[in-house]
Amino acid sequence: MKKLIALIPLVCLLLWQACSNDNTGTSKSLNPNGDSELALLMRQMFEDGERVHAQIQKGEPVSIQVDFEKIMTAKATDPAKMQGPEFPHFAASYVEAMKALRDAPPAEAQDKYSAMVATCMNCHEQSCPGPMVRIKKLL
Ligand code: HEC
Repeated sequence: MKKLIALIPLVCLLLWQACSNDNTGTSKSLNPNGDSELALLMRQMFEDGERVHAQIQKGEPVSIQVDFEKIMTAKATDPAKMQGPEFPHFAASYVEAMKALRDAPPAEAQDKYSAMVATCMNCHEQSCPGPMVRIKKLL
């Protein structure tokens, strides 16, 4: 049992590395940084989330800038992360949550925002746990 517990940080580290983009050598990405389309989109989603969060806290109307529907088509660093029946399902819930947030009356913006961040976490829990610590900061 103790041995298993000792392995946990190692497993986390490996998962984290798998989802952080230090593409050395093997990347076929056209981007000079070697970042995949999906990774770049994720960063925009994160930054847009921070901006929207600030708008909600200040009681301003929510304006969404990120092209969130691209999540359905953007290419990942490791396409295996997008295989399986879960990915399109999680991506679709995220898109739905973004639309609900975009269309929400101001009184509901906070709830819709939290629900949207939950859809980030759901997919990440399954496909890519590394960025979860960062995503939690959006709450
Ligand atoms: C449908 C699944 C899914 C959803 C929903 C999702 N992600 Fe991701 N995310 C991924 C995958 C897969 C990667 C790895 C991308 C790659 O390496 O190409 C990733 C990578 C990231 C990264 C690391 C990007 C980098 O710099 O390499 C961040 C940050 C991130 N996501 C934040 C978010 C946030 C914030 C949300 C919600 C607004 C979100 N994600 C929703 C699947 C998802």
